Amino acid sequence: MAHAGRPWTDYKPPAAAPVWAAIEGFGRYHVLCAALELDVFDTLGELGPSAADRVAERLSVSAPHLRTLLDSVVALGLLDQNNGLYELNDTARRYLLSDGPACMAGLVGVAPGPLENWSRLADTVRNGRPARPIEADPEAFYVPLVEGTFTTMWRCATRADSRIRYSSIPAARVLDLGAGGAPWSIAVLAACPSGSAVINDYAGVLEVAKRKTAEFAVADRCEWRPGNYFEIEIEPQSFDLVILGHICRAEGATGAARLIRRAHDALRPGGRVIVADYFCDPEHKLNPHAVLMGATMMASTVKGSTFTTDEFGAWLRDAGFVDLRLVEPIGFQQCIVASRPENRPNVDA
Ligand SMILES: C[S@@+](CC[C@H](N)C(=O)[O-])C[C@H]1O[C@@H](n2cnc3c(N)ncnc32)[C@H](O)[C@@H]1O
Repeated sequence: MAHAGRPWTDYKPPAAAPVWAAIEGFGRYHVLCAALELDVFDTLGELGPSAADRVAERLSVSAPHLRTLLDSVVALGLLDQNNGLYELNDTARRYLLSDGPACMAGLVGVAPGPLENWSRLADTVRNGRPARPIEADPEAFYVPLVEGTFTTMWRCATRADSRIRYSSIPAARVLDLGAGGAPWSIAVLAACPSGSAVINDYAGVLEVAKRKTAEFAVADRCEWRPGNYFEIEIEPQSFDLVILGHICRAEGATGAARLIRRAHDALRPGGRVIVADYFCDPEHKLNPHAVLMGATMMASTVKGSTFTTDEFGAWLRDAGFVDLRLVEPIGFQQCIVASRPENRPNVDA
């Protein structure tokens, strides 16, 4: 029937769900942030299954408002509620308790970057740069970021040994550029009792690395090299592993390729680079997490973006690397591992 419209139609309009999902994204994020700020998860961990009134009394907050917040957290799938009693589920226990085995509580608030940059995203697209990029004061941004991301990156780095077998390198020498809290160096040094690491970052961020390496009892095998990773001196052909952990995507294509060339020059023949990042598929549509991370980078950095596995592959091969492999040690965290060939001439930076 050549008729469009109700009630007779052979055309079913698309659902509005993707639009609602985008609108709700804002609320979802802030519900989680508020629950963490109010200590909802740790409090439920202490109290066990509890009515909203009891949790509100413990937290000294408005009971009807807390109930709305708790119901919203249940809607996110981050708490359970049965017969009016709210309780932790396995996801909350693992990722949102402050002593959870894979705690992401510190990561939630910092991962999107400065929130005010998101409300100016259209202006950033108009102007080709954010009004207040994080590069204006990198230490102020990165100190809380690397504190918040440490546990996730350390889990990724420790699990990576089952794929990369860095623990089998005798007296491994590691170069960790833009190391943050040094999760990768800590994992490698813990697995290699005779290993040592050169750890680079801005001086203020290195204070986090010094504290974390002391906590994990590996600080005595670390050398600190503060400064810009494009400018610090690096001994050629001296390292077994070079870590580029979540630094390439802040530097644009030219900067990322330059870091990869620096890594190649620093490695001894047979040494390996580990590039941890969020990689897009070649068509920029199969891995929404990496694609949206590109928007996060655009929102708050001058040159930042996410790149495809093909782009990283080309930069690595151009620098002289071989034997490229993509591994995913834990969910959402991927790394490309590549080797500097034995007996191959150096490629200049
Ligand atoms: C996203 S964090 C990653 C930290 C760590 N590598 C990890 O995987 O968890 C990026 C790090 O690079 C550092 N960084 C950014 N630009 C840098 C530069 N030009 N020179 C040295 N460090 C830099 C930041 O201070 C920050 O610690």
